[in-house]
Amino acid sequence: MSSLWRTTSRAARLVARRGLWGVQPRRLIIDTSYSAHFMDFQGASIASSMKKLVVTELSPRFREAVSARTVSVPTPGDAELLVRNRFVGINASDINYSAGRYDPSMKPPFDAGFEGIGEVVGLGLSASSRYTVGDAVAYFSSGAFAEYTVVPVKESVPVPSVKPEFLTLLVSGATAYIALKRLGDLAKDETVLVTAAAGGTGQFAVQFAKRAGCHVIGTCSSDQKAAFLKSIGCDRPINYTKEDVAKTLREEYPKGLDVVYESVGGSVLELAVNSLANKGRLIVIGFISGYQSASGVPPFRGGTLPVKLLQKSASVRGFFLPHFLSDYREALSSMMQMFARGELVCEVDCGEMSQEGRFVGLESVFRAVDYMYAGKNLGKVVVEVTPPAGRNSKL
Ligand SMILES: NC(=O)c1ccc[n+]([C@@H]2O[C@H](COP(=O)([O-])OP(=O)(O)OC[C@H]3O[C@@H](n4cnc5c(N)ncnc54)[C@H](OP(=O)(O)O)[C@@H]3O)[C@@H](O)[C@H]2O)c1
Repeated sequence: MSSLWRTTSRAARLVARRGLWGVQPRRLIIDTSYSAHFMDFQGASIASSMKKLVVTELSPRFREAVSARTVSVPTPGDAELLVRNRFVGINASDINYSAGRYDPSMKPPFDAGFEGIGEVVGLGLSASSRYTVGDAVAYFSSGAFAEYTVVPVKESVPVPSVKPEFLTLLVSGATAYIALKRLGDLAKDETVLVTAAAGGTGQFAVQFAKRAGCHVIGTCSSDQKAAFLKSIGCDRPINYTKEDVAKTLREEYPKGLDVVYESVGGSVLELAVNSLANKGRLIVIGFISGYQSASGVPPFRGGTLPVKLLQKSASVRGFFLPHFLSDYREALSSMMQMFARGELVCEVDCGEMSQEGRFVGLESVFRAVDYMYAGKNLGKVVVEVTPPAGRNSKL
C-alpha cells in the first residue's frame, strides 16, 4: 500500500475509533463465545463473483493502464467489512496512481480507486462491535473501483446514509477545508482566486473562502460552470475560454490576489504567482495540466520565483491532505453539519450530461475519467457502481 494511503488510513482509523457525524457504534459488547472467524452476513444477498478494476500496466493513460477483471467476491477478515459499493469517487490523481507515481515500488497488478460509499453486507466478529449488516459506510483506501471491497474497520467512516454527497467530503471537501484553514490565513475582504473552481475540490474552496468573508474569483471553462460558481457565492467567475484571465486580473484586481488555491499548474501557476498581492499566499493543491504527460509535471518557469516572492513578501506553500490528519476529524464533522443545515453545496456529477449518459456500472469509471480530463465535469465526478438494494433485500 502506498505511503499516501498508509497515512490516509490513519485518519480513517481516528474517525472510526471516535465515531463521526453523530453515528454511534451499534454493538458495544462482543460475544466472545463465537469463533474469531465468525462471519456475519445475516442473509444479505451477495453474488459469488464480481468485477473490479486492476492496474495491469503503469501508465497515466487510464484506459491502457487499467483492466476490468471478474473475480470471486472476497471474504472479510475478523476486523474487516465487506462493502457493496454503491458509489465511487473519481479523483484527478487516479491517473497518477495508475502511472505508479504514488509509490514507485508498487508493481502491477494492483487494485484501482481511492474512495467509495456503500452498505456493509458482511463482516468479521471484531468488526461487528462497530457495524452490522445494512449499515452505511464510506471509506478511502485503495481498491474502491470494484463491486465489493473489503475495508478494514480502521479505514472506514460510518455515515448516516448512502448519499453520494458524503463521498464528496472525504477527499475533495477535506482538502479545501484544511488547506484554506491551515495555509490560507484568510481574512475578511481579502481577494481569493480558486482555479478549477467548479470541480470536485474547487467548489468547496469557493464556498469556504466566501464563508470567511472574502471576495472570490473562480476560473472555469464554460458558461454553465460560471453560472454554477455564481450560485455557490463566487463573486467573479471567469470562463477562460471566453475571457483572458491575465487581463481580467490586471484590470479588475490591480492590488493583486491575497490567496490562491491553485490546482492546474504550469502557465496558470505562473500567472497566479505574478498576480499575488503584497504578502499574498499561494497554495499548491495540484498541477492537473501535467498529469497526462510522461513526467506528470507541467513546465514551469520558476527561475525568478525567489525575486518575485521577496519583492512582495509573498509565499508559495504546498498542501497534501495526508500531512494534515490531525485536522481531519474536525473538518469532516464541521462539513457534515454545514451540509445538514443546508449551508454547503456538495455538487455531484454522475455524468447525466455526458454523451453516453449517466455513469452507471463499474466499467463507466473509464468514461468518467475521460470526462474529467476533458474538463466536462461540474462538481465531483461520481460513478454509481451498483443499484440501490431491492425492497425485499436485507439491506
Ligand atoms: N493536495 C491534495 O491533497 C489534493 C487532494 C485532492 C485533489 N487535489 C488536486 O486538486 C485538483 C482537482 O482535482 P479533482 O479531483 O477535484 O478534479 P476536478 O476539479 O473535479 O476536475 C478537474 C478539473 O480541472 C480543470 N482543468 C484545468 N486544466 C485542466 C487540464 N489541462 N486537464 C484537465 N482538467 C483541467 C477542469 O475544469 P475546467 O475545465 O473548468 O478548468 C476539470 O474539470 C487536482 O490538481 C488534484 O490533484 C489535491
